[in-house]
Amino acid sequence: MDIPFMTLSRLAFGYWEGQPLYAMAELGVFDALADGPSRATALADRLNTSVDGMTRLLDAGVALRLLTRDPETDGRYRNSDLAAALLTSASPDTLIHWVRVMGRWSRPWSQLADAVRTGRTVEDQGLRLGDDPAYMRDFILGMHEYARRGAAELPRAIPLGGLRRAADIGGGAGTYAMALAQAAPSLHIAVLDLKPVLEITRAMVAEHGLSDRISTGVIDYAHDRFGADLDLVLMSNVLHQESDTVCLSMLGRARDALTPGGRVVVQGHFVQPDRTGPLFATLHNLSALALWSGGHSRTLQEMADLAARAGFTDISHGPVGKSGLSMVTGLRA
Ligand SMILES: C[S@@+](CC[C@H](N)C(=O)[O-])C[C@H]1O[C@@H](n2cnc3c(N)ncnc32)[C@H](O)[C@@H]1O
Repeated sequence: MDIPFMTLSRLAFGYWEGQPLYAMAELGVFDALADGPSRATALADRLNTSVDGMTRLLDAGVALRLLTRDPETDGRYRNSDLAAALLTSASPDTLIHWVRVMGRWSRPWSQLADAVRTGRTVEDQGLRLGDDPAYMRDFILGMHEYARRGAAELPRAIPLGGLRRAADIGGGAGTYAMALAQAAPSLHIAVLDLKPVLEITRAMVAEHGLSDRISTGVIDYAHDRFGADLDLVLMSNVLHQESDTVCLSMLGRARDALTPGGRVVVQGHFVQPDRTGPLFATLHNLSALALWSGGHSRTLQEMADLAARAGFTDISHGPVGKSGLSMVTGLRA
């Protein structure tokens, strides 16, 4: 078969391979198999599905190396090592909430042409989060599961000496606040986010033994103050969700909350100057169009320009580590 056909075929079939993963995550197959190997009939009964559908799904799971079916176990399926480590809820390295969110996002992604036609989101995830507590929980825990793998890179990328007080705007489960607090033992951080999110944050912070140095505060970051007398304001993976007007306002309130010499850090995925790469950043930009109203990806220079317009000085930018994330930082004069 010729290479161009293979490349196109791979792209066109691309979304098929994720679907069995999403379906198994949504139905709870990996957690059910964590209790022990099972036949398709028993799993169908336990998870309330058709036997034929479950059998086909499990067989595809074997082909995808997410499951195994050992002839010695008489046709029973079990989790592969990968699934046991990354897709069962009880595993410390689980990514199951993140996979469920990816499955949910595959629906608005499939309407990308409509989003491009109208230039608007097809299903605003911001609104959906507010309507649906189970989805909100999957989203916040999913972002944490994905981000925690590289979170320790952020404290290594910024000067931590003398930091006393910080705020993490839209800090979600507290992933980066916890990484900063672990790296800077005298730092106190406020994670500021929407009210229902912060219940999850507090539980996560308590689980990591950091409740004495990480507090939470309810804000709508589009309008509210971020505090006062801070040495550091972090905005990680939030500004791509917002228009330039909201970004400028947020950067302005970050400046107001900082003490002179204090630092703002804007972390995220940025497109290269001609906007045609890196691939993930271009896809992130499309996801901002289809899934979040008002957002778009920027170049590092565009974000640096917004920071300068908001009054920051000594602005610099670059990669945070090897995770693909970059940051723009600036100081309050
Ligand atoms: C993509 S997550 C990023 C979480 C975390 N900062 C990280 O880097 O992993 C976006 C966060 O922004 C929060 N958020 C969205 N709209 C908000 C608003 N209007 N006010 C406060 N937080 C908001 C969400 O609840 C979520 O925690």
